[in-house]
Amino acid sequence: MKGILLAGGAGTRLYPITIPISKQIIPVYDKPMIYYPLSTLIASGINDILVITTKKDIDLFKTLLQDGSQWGCTISYAVQNMPNGIAESFIIAEEFIGSDNVALILGDNIFYFPSLKNIIANSINIQGATIFAYHVSDPSRYGVVEFTPENKIVSIEEKPKYPKSNYAIPGFYFFDNHVIEYAKNIKPSDRGELEITDVIKQYYQDKLLNVIKMDKGTAWLDTGTVGSLMEASQFVHVLENRQGLKVGCVEEQAYLMNYINDNQLKKLSTHFNNEYGEYLKTLLNA
Ligand code: G1P
Repeated sequence: MKGILLAGGAGTRLYPITIPISKQIIPVYDKPMIYYPLSTLIASGINDILVITTKKDIDLFKTLLQDGSQWGCTISYAVQNMPNGIAESFIIAEEFIGSDNVALILGDNIFYFPSLKNIIANSINIQGATIFAYHVSDPSRYGVVEFTPENKIVSIEEKPKYPKSNYAIPGFYFFDNHVIEYAKNIKPSDRGELEITDVIKQYYQDKLLNVIKMDKGTAWLDTGTVGSLMEASQFVHVLENRQGLKVGCVEEQAYLMNYINDNQLKKLSTHFNNEYGEYLKTLLNA
């Protein structure tokens, strides 16, 4: 399974912060935002990753993430020239995906997902698509999935004015190889974007869509506004401070997945003459 990390967009809702810098680089407590979705991909067992970003920001990401080999990963880069929508990433990534399956995660989606490993092991279908559903108070800002009481999917809508359920679709999806063809089938929406929900709908029509409700212990955090960004930082701070464990630590996930060994982690820890480096050292003794 390949992985796409989409870190495009202008981040206009966070202006002036994001005038000179990509949204996905700005900090969420003690790490750049992109560390969180990247570590979620790595925790899913994916280490061949394409970062799609803008021409303006690509060098920032290259400086931060390099070629991924320091984490036992391969990270390559592609440019999305215009904000043409999430689904365009499969067209941009066609060659990268090749004949494989692919997971897509949005660079501003932060998950605290303790049950992820079990879900990946038991529920991700190789054929079709697997998406998640997460109960939120304000579904109209997201893709929304509606269920019958028996958990049968009834409808999928992008940012409905009058949402038919409280289940939003987070920006973390697993697709089989048909996704390239489906992405090519769709037309831009009223907001001029190739919508990921239109790709998902095709899997639904083909009866190849699997939706997993994220359990209550999972956090899916928004970073779209300064308020929600602050809350995400506070969430990570509270959790890390209380537990003495980090969320979204790429080096730790790579180590837990055995992509890097003790020596490599030790070397990485020496790059940080601070609490982050100290934390990496504690992992060696755990
Ligand atoms: C996008 C998707 C939407 C999804 C959301 C998750 O919205 O279009 O379906 O629920 O990401 O973050 P956007 O944030 O691009 O408006």
